[in-house]
Amino acid sequence: MAKLVINEKRKKGHINPEIYGHFAEHLGRCIYEGLYVGENSDIPNVNGMRKDVVDALKEMKIPVLRWPGGCFADEYHWKDGIGPKESRKRMINTHWGGVTEDNSFGTHEFFELCEQLGCKTYVNGNVGSGTVQEMSEWVEYITFNGVSPMADLRAKNGHEAPWKLDYFGVGNENWGCGGNMTPEYYGNLYRRYQTYVRQYDAANPVRKICCGANVADYFWTKGVLETCFKAPQPGSGLLLDGLSLHYYVHPEGWDIKGSATDFDDKVWYKTLAKARYMDELISRHGAIMDEYDPEKKIGMIVDEWGCWFTVEPGTNPGFLYQQNTMRDALVAGISLNIFNRHCDRVKMACIAQMVNVLQSVVLTEGPKMLLTPTYHVFHMYRHHQDAELVDSYIDGNKIIGAEDEYQVPFLDESVSVSEDGYLNITLNNLSATEDAPVVISFAQLKPAEITASILTEEMHAHNTFDAPETVKEMPFTAYEVKDDSIFLTAPACSVISLRVKNA
Ligand code: AHR
Repeated sequence: MAKLVINEKRKKGHINPEIYGHFAEHLGRCIYEGLYVGENSDIPNVNGMRKDVVDALKEMKIPVLRWPGGCFADEYHWKDGIGPKESRKRMINTHWGGVTEDNSFGTHEFFELCEQLGCKTYVNGNVGSGTVQEMSEWVEYITFNGVSPMADLRAKNGHEAPWKLDYFGVGNENWGCGGNMTPEYYGNLYRRYQTYVRQYDAANPVRKICCGANVADYFWTKGVLETCFKAPQPGSGLLLDGLSLHYYVHPEGWDIKGSATDFDDKVWYKTLAKARYMDELISRHGAIMDEYDPEKKIGMIVDEWGCWFTVEPGTNPGFLYQQNTMRDALVAGISLNIFNRHCDRVKMACIAQMVNVLQSVVLTEGPKMLLTPTYHVFHMYRHHQDAELVDSYIDGNKIIGAEDEYQVPFLDESVSVSEDGYLNITLNNLSATEDAPVVISFAQLKPAEITASILTEEMHAHNTFDAPETVKEMPFTAYEVKDDSIFLTAPACSVISLRVKNA
């Protein structure tokens, strides 16, 4: 029997709620249809935002939302998306399906959405095809409180008060779709553009995110930090608060990707092993960050992660619409446990993307909405937000999997303690077929009040609009407390969440 050993006395770092963040791009049916249907829609909405989707995301405790891209960010000109909707500019969304973007969802709508969700705001600016002035004016438009050309324009467009801008990304994937730049070139542009991201409200500083690497491009991380890390004058402060990292799991590689629902055992383990690669990426990029920033003042911002499969048959290839099975649930569980364990460096992570695109938590079809297995994992893990990570490991963990290259541990966990004194344990069984008996031991805690839930089904299981509750979070009571330890069996292919209080 494997033993989950918890030393709840040994705190290892604070889990920033933003680690449970999300991303919504002007891509396919994410914004339009998925989130925004307009005030005149028959679908119940509040100021154009779908009520069913907003309610579900609030229940999941969404902490932060990144917008408007992605690749779309570096061709987005924010002034096209303000003012009367009928006169907003129509443009081609060249990255995503070549469809017409009518700009009916813009800055005002984004902040309205975040207000309804009760979450922090992360706006990604345009370095690839935008000017310094344009970026500077956007920040002024959003945050300046007083008389200024942009604040006046905001008031004229119906919003007198400034909004709270928590994070601002200075470009996206500038090594690729955001301008095909070299690290030094981007690093110098970053220095320049971020200068004009002014802090108009000292009590609510805008945290600046610099574009980081794709997957294992350590050369980019090194080159950008070499160029950007050093402040212009001693004592003038850092130029960046965060450095991003993007990593997607493609079971069969970037070109082929692979089906979201049709896979065998081999591909199951391959996918999970690829998800676990995130741990190495964070450690190695983190080691480079440590060379410059040993005090870990700069956060690693994993603002795009998740499974990227072949699109659902018959759907627009540019819309990146995919189904979501128990395999996605395990990828989410593994990834969130990794982020928790690296909470000393990882300060935000945004799964891509929130609705109807890639590894979504919500799918919609006309007026219908369903919650994916990934949604349930975020819901089960929500207690880790703002908690303190504590020491844990699994003694006697087996290695399982189909091929040498793609083996994974049987069990995977992370543990934290919340302010209310509850210990939060999230435990995944990565086997497609084998149940795992586990005993959970503590340093001093005597388990008293326990609440637990489970997500488990066979590996291909997923929700459809005809059967939206095939996979859902269920109460879990199949545990026993004996000699101050908890005994349970984690079924094959499962995610379990336990909250435990001391007697
Ligand atoms: O999430 C889809 C795309 O993946 C984003 O637009 C881009 O940043 C990344 O390549």
